[in-house]
Amino acid sequence: MSNNGNLKLAIQKSGRLSENSLQLLKNCNLDIEKFNDRLVVSIRNFKLDLLFLRDDDIPEYVQDGVAELGIVGQDVLYETKADVKVVKKLGFGRCSLRIAIPENDDLRDIEDLNGKRIATSFPNILRDFLKQNKIDAKIVNISGSVEAAPSLGIADYICDLVSTGNTLKLNKLKSSISVLESEAVLIKNKNLKNHSDKYQIFLKLLSRIESVLNANN
Ligand code: PRP
Ligand code: ZN
Ligand code: MG
Repeated sequence: MSNNGNLKLAIQKSGRLSENSLQLLKNCNLDIEKFNDRLVVSIRNFKLDLLFLRDDDIPEYVQDGVAELGIVGQDVLYETKADVKVVKKLGFGRCSLRIAIPENDDLRDIEDLNGKRIATSFPNILRDFLKQNKIDAKIVNISGSVEAAPSLGIADYICDLVSTGNTLKLNKLKSSISVLESEAVLIKNKNLKNHSDKYQIFLKLLSRIESVLNANN
């Protein structure tokens, strides 16, 4: 990657946050280079490069300083337990991490989770949640298409993100207990030096982002 002195901002390559993340940057009057599947793309009128990554990788990359900034869901941030500074909630990408169960099943209270197998790609968040509620359930760790687990017989329930609810409906599941409410946040590497050139670029970008968010409210 070029060491051009530009600040680096990691955003999701393709997924629920991608479009809104790009739109926020465009609203900040950032002129984004044409990118066809490129990992790094420069902003023409600002000392900023965009890194297009899998959302799950963003917290660690920001923690390690590969990018100074990132836009990511609180869900992924908490799951990775990365050591970064949360600068700002961005007001988009709202969703909730929920226990979901087969349509014809019934979950009267949280105790009914005892002894169940729950498939998820958020094992850390789910483990903490079960522990807090003193539930003894088996976590089945799956990296994608979690919603297929009950019909494949590898889990009784799932714990996954619900936004519109379409994915659940398509898989004959219904949402139940909420584990975590989430939205997109701007995160920052903790070692970005206060008086560095990059910090000045960060402050300038942040003030533009704040103007856009205030105008939207
Ligand atoms: C989440 C979740 C579901 C979908 C739910 O995936 O895993 O697949 O969103 O959204 P819906 O309620 O609107 O149907 P996400 O977009 O986070 O993608 P990823 O699993 O690839 O990270
Ligand atoms: Zn993801
Ligand atoms: Mg998904």
